[in-house]
Amino acid sequence: MPVPQYSPSPRELDDIELIVARALPGPLNAAESVLRLDLPDSMKTAAEDAGAVEIVDPEGLPLARVTWPAGGVTELASPAYGPFRRLYLTPEQTRKAYAGRTVVPVTDALTTTEIAEIADLGPVLLLALVGHGTPALSPVALLRASLLAADSLPDAAVVAVPLASHDDPEADHALGVAVVEAYAGEDRVHALAPASSEDYPDAIAAVIDADQPAPEDQGLVIFFTGLSGSGKSTLARALMDRILEQGARTVTSLDGDVVRRNLSAGLTFSKEDRETNIRRIGWVAAEISRHGGLAVCSPIAPFDSTRQDVRGFVADAGGAFFLVHVATPLEECERRDRKGLYAKARRGEIPEFTGISSPYEEPADADVRVDTTGRSIEDALDEVIAGLREAGYLDLA
Ligand code: ADX
Repeated sequence: MPVPQYSPSPRELDDIELIVARALPGPLNAAESVLRLDLPDSMKTAAEDAGAVEIVDPEGLPLARVTWPAGGVTELASPAYGPFRRLYLTPEQTRKAYAGRTVVPVTDALTTTEIAEIADLGPVLLLALVGHGTPALSPVALLRASLLAADSLPDAAVVAVPLASHDDPEADHALGVAVVEAYAGEDRVHALAPASSEDYPDAIAAVIDADQPAPEDQGLVIFFTGLSGSGKSTLARALMDRILEQGARTVTSLDGDVVRRNLSAGLTFSKEDRETNIRRIGWVAAEISRHGGLAVCSPIAPFDSTRQDVRGFVADAGGAFFLVHVATPLEECERRDRKGLYAKARRGEIPEFTGISSPYEEPADADVRVDTTGRSIEDALDEVIAGLREAGYLDLA
């Protein structure tokens, strides 16, 4: 039986790295444990048949083998790249290199006061907890800030530990304690109290500013979702025109119908293909936001879970995500029926038509909800623009 290959989420990858490093105990998927590998259902049978799954990095390099369903982890290769990779040590390597130092766990840039407090501790090891979802800054920024702090201390070293957050404060605290103990061994651990000031040395403040741009400087994905004929594309186009007229930003449009003619050409309207379509749109939009750009998306995007995936892609890229639900009711969309598609769908000529023979899951997390029934586009657009202004993302006065 061939062993299926799985490219894990950043969180899963961090967990596996710490288990392989013997900083956390395995196995994965133990009862009550938050250390889980969420294989897609389609892969579970193959993994069970083969008795294992191979963990590959995003480029396909096999990193570990996980027995399935037991969850035992064996290393195949250690990740060899990524910014500051040289700082990622196992507990064993850390103890060999830095035994005898006071260990200070760090999840945020150090303030001036904290640096002074640490300076009194003698030789220290700053343990930067950089796993997915743990630090307030991006992992690379936390490491840059920690290296700057170390430079200003009499005798400090920095080690990176990919301790991920699992959105379970109790479990995450316990994992944090276990990991820090593994790295500290016999050495003293000095826990910092929550920072009482936002006073940073200039160089560290600059790292924070670059990592967390103000909302108006941040990359932005404005995502319109709604039924066919709800007015998504019209609203999206009107918004883009306003943005272009103002001239402060450039825009990339990712409209459902347009994307289906190029990026997603050949996809059908099955649930699976719709998910692929939306993930493609989300992936491109997230990359645009990574560089501070602005993407306006307007597909139907009928499934909540796929919209959440897109939200996650954008957050991981450091962009802001603004969801607009164009909530024009089905009756009105069908009454308009500009493309004649609803009539065809009713006659059974178009299978799986959203709202007729395929579901639309209403978002509960929309930043703006706008019904275009009986109102002008300008009027509906004003609501979107007001929402964007309130959120601080875009001021189209
Ligand atoms: S999505 O579900 O994958 O988000 P998308 O926005 O790309 O849909 O495409 C929707 C457009 O495709 C509609 O505006 C409509 O013109 C056309 N279309 C063709 N077949 C269908 C169908 N079965 N369901 C919905 N839209 C369809």
